[in-house]
Amino acid sequence: MKIGICSDHAGFEYKGKLISYLLGKGHEIVNFGTDSPESCDYADFAHPLADAVEKGTVEAGIAICGTGNGMAITLNKHQGIRAGLAWNTAIGELVKEHNKANVLVLPARFISYRMAVSIVRTWMQTAFAGGRHARRIEKIPVK
Ligand code: RB5
Repeated sequence: MKIGICSDHAGFEYKGKLISYLLGKGHEIVNFGTDSPESCDYADFAHPLADAVEKGTVEAGIAICGTGNGMAITLNKHQGIRAGLAWNTAIGELVKEHNKANVLVLPARFISYRMAVSIVRTWMQTAFAGGRHARRIEKIPVK
């Protein structure tokens, strides 16, 4: 897959490790920053990632900040984005199976790196269930 990834300073370390992990699995990665552990503002990185997912220049995205909420709130301002926050593998599975999340959001300050990898792997391997969930996600965009 071609995956876009971004973080703020709180997610910077996990982002670097996840990029290495995903490259090692043969995925193509587009890194939207941040590029240092210096304090920064999550929206500066969430918007470019959301634009890329909406345009289809990447197939999906991963965003990481301290709680995950700053990234999720910002990403979900974009009509074409369904950003889902996941803190364990069951949520990582359901956010794809039920919500077809095209951006996975991780709360770096509240999960281990090992859990982050496990969530990413699960989310990537899970398929959208369709059916009643397709009807539900069709009702999400503001008309
Ligand atoms: C950064 O301190 C923190 O506010 C940010 O990573 C995130 O948790 C915001 O939602």
